[in-house]
Amino acid sequence: MFDLAIKGGWVVDPVRQEIKKQNIYVKDGRIAALGESDANALETRDASGLYVLPGGIDTHCHFRNPGATEKEDFAHGTRAAAVGGITTVLDMPNTNPAVLDGIDVRKKIAYFHDKAYVDYGIWGLSLGDLNLDKLLSMKEAGAAAIKFFWGYAIDTKTHALVYNYTKGKEDVIPPLDDGEVYAIFRQIAANRQILAIHAENSALIRRLTEELDTSKTADDDYAAFLSTRPSLAEELTVATAISMARDTGAHLHILHMTSRRGVELVRRAKADGVSVTAETAPHYLFLSAEDFPAVGPMMKVYPLIKSKDDQAALWAGLLDGTLDFIASDHAPHRIEEKRGSLFKMPSGMCGVETMMPLMLDAVSRGKITLPFVARVLSQRPAEIYGIERKGKLEIGFDADLVLVDMQKTRPIRNKDLHSKQPLTAFDGRSITGWPVSTYLRGRLIAADHEIVGDPGGQPAHCRAAV
Ligand code: DOR
Ligand code: ZN
Repeated sequence: MFDLAIKGGWVVDPVRQEIKKQNIYVKDGRIAALGESDANALETRDASGLYVLPGGIDTHCHFRNPGATEKEDFAHGTRAAAVGGITTVLDMPNTNPAVLDGIDVRKKIAYFHDKAYVDYGIWGLSLGDLNLDKLLSMKEAGAAAIKFFWGYAIDTKTHALVYNYTKGKEDVIPPLDDGEVYAIFRQIAANRQILAIHAENSALIRRLTEELDTSKTADDDYAAFLSTRPSLAEELTVATAISMARDTGAHLHILHMTSRRGVELVRRAKADGVSVTAETAPHYLFLSAEDFPAVGPMMKVYPLIKSKDDQAALWAGLLDGTLDFIASDHAPHRIEEKRGSLFKMPSGMCGVETMMPLMLDAVSRGKITLPFVARVLSQRPAEIYGIERKGKLEIGFDADLVLVDMQKTRPIRNKDLHSKQPLTAFDGRSITGWPVSTYLRGRLIAADHEIVGDPGGQPAHCRAAV
């Protein structure tokens, strides 16, 4: 006898890029059967009129735990994920303290255990020579991959990342030079890990920022701000990173790509056989610099959202596979912090809960298809990070399922979000196509935009084959 049957839904297959009316049968948390035949189960859900997608995987979440838990914490963040149709998250390591060795990874996995509403994996952080000999221990402890904030300085005492480095600043280790960065790539290659980078050339940004006379610049001059953090900043770092990946054989993953120039470099590198993958984030696909007057500072994220032309290139790159998947870069801050000067306020906003709805809305508008959504939100992230039994609706895979109502129209609203600081640049945007039920390993965890039950998330096993 099966535990659960989801009957009569349109099942979305990212691998074959097709949709078929099928019943899904679940036993012990996994998909046990799939097809047209009718069988009994302890519990049956009628999914007629709904689509069934594999649970979304958001590989780029800043849940801020430990550290700035007034901005977000793991319980709130994973509740937001569940409601938004995301059943697996990877938590970013720039917390306070940060995740710098195998012990930190194990501690974080254990600490999150009774707080997780969805399954989760952990990122490790590279601080160059400071923890070069610890990278392998993070893999052995189960970290999904290693992140490197290229061009960021490091606090000498706490080893926290310094976001706005200026020359001569005291008590900081200045951004690493290319030699030290090269050593990270070499180590990553030897360890057969994934190195994911935040790709912005900080020296260029520093210079352009120094040259801008902010006393003559309005607090909300997005164009001026963008002139200090242009596409060139992404281009320079992506180009260097690709060269280092080519030379060392390390697998390079480029996080949150924002520009046409960046996409073109990745397209060429892939054609040349370099081991490189890349992601972009929903805010780069659904917003451009032109939206700033209407949206305001909530859309300040790093790297900055760029032009309409860049936005078009990102869509083209996602559609042709140059960009492998999307991830939210969920990075909330307090509302008080998101006021005042654009130049000074922290960057980031909520994303984990709205990523799938935004993509479903793009399906409603005819821009993409549901199987494509399943590919870039589930299948590809699972493949790249080697997340076991996730990302597809196939026998033996975890029954992480999202039931989607493509007829449902309702706006995204800050007040409906489940994050600790429910703030998004998409507040007020009408969306057609919503996740209405989320199942994690066969258990209903969210329904009609609310959480159901207690935290039952478990560590996901990430074994990237690089
Ligand atoms: O906008 C951002 N916010 N970009 C990052 O890279 C970091 C993040 C954060 O942690 O707030
Ligand atoms: Zn991030």
